[in-house]
Amino acid sequence: MNATPNACTAPVGIFDSGLGGLSVLRAVRTLLPAERVVYVADSRYAPYGQRDDDFIADRTLAIGEWLVRQGAKALVVACNTATAQSIELVRGQLPIPLVGVEPGVKPAALQSVSRVAGVLATQVTLRSARFQALVARHAGDLRVLSQPGHGLVEAVERCDVGSPELLVLLRGYLQPMLDAGADTLVLGCTHYPFLDDAIRSIVGERMTLIDTSVAIARQLERVLAQHRLLAEAPEGAAEPAPTRFCSTSDGAHLRLLAAALLGIDAAVETVQIPSRRTLELDKLEKSAA
Ligand code: DGL
Repeated sequence: MNATPNACTAPVGIFDSGLGGLSVLRAVRTLLPAERVVYVADSRYAPYGQRDDDFIADRTLAIGEWLVRQGAKALVVACNTATAQSIELVRGQLPIPLVGVEPGVKPAALQSVSRVAGVLATQVTLRSARFQALVARHAGDLRVLSQPGHGLVEAVERCDVGSPELLVLLRGYLQPMLDAGADTLVLGCTHYPFLDDAIRSIVGERMTLIDTSVAIARQLERVLAQHRLLAEAPEGAAEPAPTRFCSTSDGAHLRLLAAALLGIDAAVETVQIPSRRTLELDKLEKSAA
């Protein structure tokens, strides 16, 4: 790709089914503060973990195309579920470089001493061929305990990161891992880093938590450098470049978490990104009403 100076100043698109990608955005702003970002939360249709494969692919492509129309020079699919399900398909259809995310099985295999690690991710991620291949490639002698985190994305989407009900849910997922001797926990969904404190209150120091957001920011840096698309910080810039926040729902929770997590009090635009499957869904909803 032949990059012009204008291409370098174009924004990076980051997208997630909802608010989870903010954990990736935080790492990107820290490592690459000169990069402008357009963040899209598809909260109207979250969680993806309960959707069928075609729905997830349809949304990933539609949002990728929308971000290209907004001038994005690269796309971070900051969603393990969308990556697992559709990144190969979408990669072939968008004219910009893509970075996906995947559960940190490789770092878990490198770090675990007990050789037992838990992976908490959505059902769609865990059942995907991509995840199975990841385990086959990197787990080696590591025993991997895969646990679908039913209900956790929904909790984060309503900004619940520590209610008593959430702690009960989490304990149900984590206690069997502890009982089986797991010393490492892979956070295989970008929503889960928000649950760090809640998880710690259950596992204490008995588990190392693996969050791949910093590795994703580094991968983005490599990909941008490879395509000569890295932005340069303007002379004397003290603040990270601005982020444009967009949501397919009203955006109130996105605004709340962006303020809590990133310390950014930014307005959130509500955007319409129709796609084949949501047109069908909206039609069904209308006829049922
Ligand atoms: N943050 C998404 C992930 O990393 C959540 C998927 C969902 O909406 O279920 O998998």
